[in-house]
Amino acid sequence: MTASVPGQSDPSAPFGLRRMGEGPSDWALVVALVLSCSTASLRSRFALPRAPTREELLRRFRGFLLAGPPDGVALLATAANEPVGLLNLVPDHDHQAEMAVLVADAWQHHGVGTYLTASVREIGRWQGWTVRAVVETDNRPARALLRRHRVGPTRCTSIQFGQWQYTITVAAPQRPTSQETAWTTTSSPAAAPR
Ligand SMILES: CC(C)(COP(=O)(O)OP(=O)(O)OC[C@H]1O[C@@H](n2cnc3c(N)ncnc32)[C@H](O)[C@@H]1OP(=O)(O)O)[C@@H](O)C(=O)NCCC(=O)NCCS
Repeated sequence: MTASVPGQSDPSAPFGLRRMGEGPSDWALVVALVLSCSTASLRSRFALPRAPTREELLRRFRGFLLAGPPDGVALLATAANEPVGLLNLVPDHDHQAEMAVLVADAWQHHGVGTYLTASVREIGRWQGWTVRAVVETDNRPARALLRRHRVGPTRCTSIQFGQWQYTITVAAPQRPTSQETAWTTTSSPAAAPR
């Protein structure tokens, strides 16, 4: 399914937003995104001890990168219809879910991660859920993102083995029309890193 959070198809939205399904065209976009990321970024995204090859990563983690239907969500940020970032939210139990974000290297520090995380709140479905994010202690961009996002109240709940775990309680959407069922297709306005 290709979709956007309602209210974000306005021209002022900084990026396009697609809700990913499991079809080949969506997978092709994920592959393109992964190919545009450095192995260092990919290692950080999956908190892996060593940098994997992109091929290995695509083979091993396809399920996570598309997760995820039916229960989770994978949101792709686009610029000029090119993939620039991906957020995965994978539910496990009791209204808890794990979140991870990956932004193409050329687009890092341009607001893509902030835009994607804000979208989790606007979907509405996740309101009141506890979302966990695990980042390595030396991952300054991820920690900055988790300090400054507006998804909801955030706490650092554990620090161990060189990783920090944050928990976020997802707040109510800020936009009145936010319902997952109301998603519609959108284009992506931005063309190149500004
Ligand atoms: C972490 C990541 C998702 C951040 O996404 P992003 O699009 O670059 O982040 P944004 O541009 O929205 O910026 C978010 C905050 O991080 C800060 N930031 C971004 N890149 C930074 C950098 N290289 N160094 C320091 N701070 C940085 C921004 O200044 C901003 O903080 P501010 O609001 O105080 O200014 C991205 O760097 C990434 O994909 N890294 C590799 C994968 C990863 O580590 N994922 C996180 C674990 S799941």
